[in-house]
Amino acid sequence: MPERVTHDVLILGAGLAGLRAAVEISRRLDGKVDIGIVSKVQLMRAHSVCAEGGTAAVLRPDEGDSLELHAWDTVKGSDFLADQDVVRRFVETIPSEILLLDHWGIPWTRDERGRIAQRPFGGHSYPRATLAADKTGFFEMQTLYDTLLRYRCFTRYDELFITDILAEDGRFSALLGIHAPSGETVILQAKALLIASGGGGTLYGFTTYSQTVTGDGMAMAYRTGLPLEDMEFLQFHPTGLVPSGILMTEACRGEGGYLTNSKGERFMERYAKSKMELAPRDMVSRAETTEILEGRGIEGSDGLGCLNLDLTHLGADRINTRLPLIREVCIKFLDLDPILRPIPIRPVAHYSMGGIETDIEGATRIPGIWAAGEAACVSLHGANRLGSNSTAECLVWGGIAGERIARGLAGALRAPAPPSAAALRDAEGRNEAILRREGDENLYDLRRDLRAAMDRNVGVFRTGEGLSEALATIRDIRARSARAPVRDKGKLYNSNLFHALELENLVDLAEITVLGALARQESRGAHARRDFPNRDDERWLKHTLAWKTDSGPRLDYKPVTIDMWKPVERKY
Ligand code: FUM
Repeated sequence: MPERVTHDVLILGAGLAGLRAAVEISRRLDGKVDIGIVSKVQLMRAHSVCAEGGTAAVLRPDEGDSLELHAWDTVKGSDFLADQDVVRRFVETIPSEILLLDHWGIPWTRDERGRIAQRPFGGHSYPRATLAADKTGFFEMQTLYDTLLRYRCFTRYDELFITDILAEDGRFSALLGIHAPSGETVILQAKALLIASGGGGTLYGFTTYSQTVTGDGMAMAYRTGLPLEDMEFLQFHPTGLVPSGILMTEACRGEGGYLTNSKGERFMERYAKSKMELAPRDMVSRAETTEILEGRGIEGSDGLGCLNLDLTHLGADRINTRLPLIREVCIKFLDLDPILRPIPIRPVAHYSMGGIETDIEGATRIPGIWAAGEAACVSLHGANRLGSNSTAECLVWGGIAGERIARGLAGALRAPAPPSAAALRDAEGRNEAILRREGDENLYDLRRDLRAAMDRNVGVFRTGEGLSEALATIRDIRARSARAPVRDKGKLYNSNLFHALELENLVDLAEITVLGALARQESRGAHARRDFPNRDDERWLKHTLAWKTDSGPRLDYKPVTIDMWKPVERKY
C-alpha cells in the first residue's frame, strides 16, 4: 500500500519559480499553510543554480531605460510571437522582484556608485541584466531558500521521482511518485499543484542543461490532458563550451567579449552590424552555424566545428570580478585561462520557449493546476527568448502564481477526493509494465540515439526532410523502448528505472517538438527552416498547441495577443 501524504499545496520542482512561489504563498498566508516541495534531486541541485549572467529589469528609468523599451525589446526578440499583455505584465513586475531579493539579502554586484549593477545582454537596448557576478541563479536560489526558511511551513521531498500527475473529475487530484532512497511509492494530495519542473533541453546531446532536466513535468502534464504550447521553439545559446556544452554566459559578450572565426574576423559584422555580438540569440546562433558551414570555423576538440569567444582584451581584473565562474570552468575543464586565450564555443541547446499552456496568471486548463517558469508557456518569449528574461520570468510568475494559489487557499479551493483505485491502478500498472519489459535493446543507447537525431535534424537550421527523418527515428525509438528492459530490479535508488521513465518523457516531448516544427512552414525566431526561409505572418502568426490523443499528438492553434505593436521586419 503506497504511503499517502496531504498538503495544502504541492510545488513540483525546487528551482527559482518553485521557490519564489513557495515564498509568496508563505508570506501571503503568514506561514499558516502547509506546502510540500517535491524535487527529483536535492533542492539546491535544481538547474536554476546554473543560471549565470543576470536577470533583466528596468531599474534606471531616469537614465534612458523604460518599461516600454523592455517590452518592445522582448516583443521584437520574440519575433512577434509573444503575447503583448503578458510582456507588459512581466516588465511592470520584475523591477520589484529585484528589490525584494535585495531586501531578502541577495549579494547583487554593485557599481562604482554602490547601486545594483546591470550589464548589457543580447537584444536589449539598455544594459538591464541585473547580476550577482556570473552566479546569479545560485545567489537567487540561496536567497529564496533562506527567506522560505523563516516561515517553517513546508516539507521537502527531495529525490522523489514523480511519475504521474493525476486529475479526476476535471480537477487536480494527486501526484504519484517513487521515493528514490527507499523505492517506495508515494501518493501526494493537495488542493493545488504548481508545476515548476523546468524545460526539456536534454532532448539534445550538446546542451547546457543539467542531465537531470528531462522535461518530466511538461510530459506528465501532456499525458494528463493539458496542451503544450509552442514546443517547436527551442533556444540555442550561442556560446556552449566545446566539447562539454557548459554555458559560457552571454555576459562574456555583455562585458565586451568578441566572437571570431578562423580568420580572426568579428563575423557578426556581416549579420547584425548594429548589435554585433549582442544581437538576439537566434541570430547569433544562426550566424555562427553559417560561419562553420561555410568553412570559417575552427576544429573543436571533438572534431566538430567551433568558433572563438575572445575575452583576452578585457583584462584580468574585469574577468576575475565579473566572470569568475567562467574563468574557473575554463581552467578546470579545458586547462585554458580565458585571460590569455580565447574560448572554443558553438551553439548549444539551452531553453524551451514552449511549455504547459497557462493563462496570464499561471493557471492551466485543469482547475487546481498551475505552472510557472520554464515548464510553463505563459507566452512571454514567443519564438525567441532574450537572455536574462528567464530568471526574471521565474521570479515574476513564481510570485504571480504563488499569490493566486494563496488567494485560492484562503478562499474556495477545497481538498480533492482521494484518487480513485482505478486511476492509481492505471498509473502503477504503467510503471510495472516498464519494469517487466524484456528484449535486447539498451535504454542508454536509445537516449543517445534520440539526442543524436535531435542534434542532427532539429537544430539551429531545419528542413522538412530532416524533420521527417527525426520524426521517424523518434517513433522507432518509442517502439524499441518497449524492448529495452530495466535490468536493475532493486528498489533503492533505481536510476535504471528512472532512466526508462525519463526516456518516455523525452520521447513524448521530442515527438511534439518535431511535429510542431514540421507543421510550421515558415522561419520565426529560433525555428529556422531552410525550405521556408521567411516569416509568414499571414499563415503562422499563431501559437501551436499539442494535445495528447490515443492516436498520437494532435496540433491545434490559437491567436497571439497583439494589442500594442504590429509585427514589422526584425532588423538589428
Ligand atoms: O548566458 C547566460 O547567462 C544565460 C542567461 C539566460 O539564459 O537568460
